[in-house]
Amino acid sequence: MNILYAASEAYPFIKTGGLGDVTHSLPIALNKLGESVRLVLPAYREVLAGTGPAEMLTAWDIPGVGVTHRVQLLQVQLDELGDYLYLIDVPALFDRPGNPYMHDEGHSWRDNAERFTVFSRAVALLALQPPDANWIPDVVHCHDWQTGLVPAFLSLSPAPPVTVFTIHNLSYDGYFSQHEFNQLRLPAIWWSPEFMEFYGGFSMLKAGMVFSDHVTTVSPTYAKEICTPEIGYRYDGLLRHMGNKLTGILNGFDLDVWNPATDPHLAANYSATDNFIKGKRANKTALLQLAGLPDNDAPLLGFVGRLVPQKGIDLLTAMLPRLFESSTARLVILGSGEKVFAAELLGLMRKYPDRLHVHIGYSEPLAHMIEAGSDLFLMPSRFEPCGLNQMYSLRYGTPPVVNHTGGLADTVVDTTATTLKNSTANGFVFHSADAAALLASTRRALKYFTNPRAWQQVCRNGMKMELGWEASAKKYQKLYRSEVAA
Ligand code: ADP
Ligand code: GLC
Repeated sequence: MNILYAASEAYPFIKTGGLGDVTHSLPIALNKLGESVRLVLPAYREVLAGTGPAEMLTAWDIPGVGVTHRVQLLQVQLDELGDYLYLIDVPALFDRPGNPYMHDEGHSWRDNAERFTVFSRAVALLALQPPDANWIPDVVHCHDWQTGLVPAFLSLSPAPPVTVFTIHNLSYDGYFSQHEFNQLRLPAIWWSPEFMEFYGGFSMLKAGMVFSDHVTTVSPTYAKEICTPEIGYRYDGLLRHMGNKLTGILNGFDLDVWNPATDPHLAANYSATDNFIKGKRANKTALLQLAGLPDNDAPLLGFVGRLVPQKGIDLLTAMLPRLFESSTARLVILGSGEKVFAAELLGLMRKYPDRLHVHIGYSEPLAHMIEAGSDLFLMPSRFEPCGLNQMYSLRYGTPPVVNHTGGLADTVVDTTATTLKNSTANGFVFHSADAAALLASTRRALKYFTNPRAWQQVCRNGMKMELGWEASAKKYQKLYRSEVAA
């Protein structure tokens, strides 16, 4: 099958979170299974700077807000992604510094509705009029709200390809006003609750759900949770009515990029069977030195993630003083996001300089070092569609402490006498998103940390898990096949 992946980010070109990891590693896994996947991204400034020369294939005139954009379709040939990367080049919309969705002050770009509508129109054109007559997509797989209008535009064609839409995070829905709807010159019939109107505005995420042939989300538990009012963000009714049109498929990750045995960012490489104890210790020393914390055997905790309410940062800041007062544990935090959280964490670092190190910013090398150098990884998310960081920490022999939700519930098995005995224990799980539960679970983990035999077993159980894409990529392949045959 020829499969076109449409997304707003993909590692290594541009990434703000797990979406970028998935749109990189899932196409590679599908290509390995014999499919032909090509990826299309907006030609952000950062992407053009990183890809090297791109060939211009064609150009279209596409309506924007009050203007018609001259949109160029570019192509970059890549080895790793199998075939090609297509880029939608509209300098007025994408040639900007920094983050794809926000400017430096942390506010969304004001023209996001226009940016991703023009992108989606261009993706639909690419799918319907492919520049390569030998590569006509059977499936267009769209990811998150930024590509939600692609299935809608494709539905206007008499013989559209199969469309699959994946929800990576329901709390970001691309919600805009009626005024913007009119400005974007979208078909008037779409302004209806049956299509994309949503509580007085319109939702690009809803468009993706309504117009696609199949909807997936990134873990089985999250697929169930989004059908409830608590986690459904007002979409639960729509999702409940989807029945078999909605499937949860657990993410995998790129076992080559996140592999402690070969990771170039580490001070020492190791695996479950080779250099595990010494290797972990060397990475702990390196991380402590980098963080300016004293190098000793007291437990070292790590956190990597976007500083947003989803990730339970408030639980973390609330429990830290109590954790520091009652244990010798230290913590290294890497994150970027909301300024209030950053300020609060930096305030705590000033208060506990020999216990807490906070790095505000985005750093791939440091993320790898934290996964390898920490003893325990904290991930107290209030909700988590899948979560990749806990999986990285499992592979790096750094047991995660997680809230029982979404993909965290699907990957982390709490350590108890029973799960130790049957060799499934790989982390520590709490069941109520509050600071007291996080603290209790962290303390429980620290107790196990003083028992080297049990601890090493927990680490090794995690490291032995099959967390790559093999099983899940086959599920996507099966889904595409059955939709193409339908
Ligand atoms: P989400 O997609 O909700 O942010 P995931 O756990 O699925 O959460 O994926 C997060 C990805 O982004 C991981 O690859 C993680 O290492 C990376 N990441 C998040 N914040 C940072 C940061 N500040 N620096 C480097 N990598 C980060
Ligand atoms: C989203 C979710 C995260 C998931 C990632 C990749 O950003 O917040 O849980 O792992 O997408 O699917």
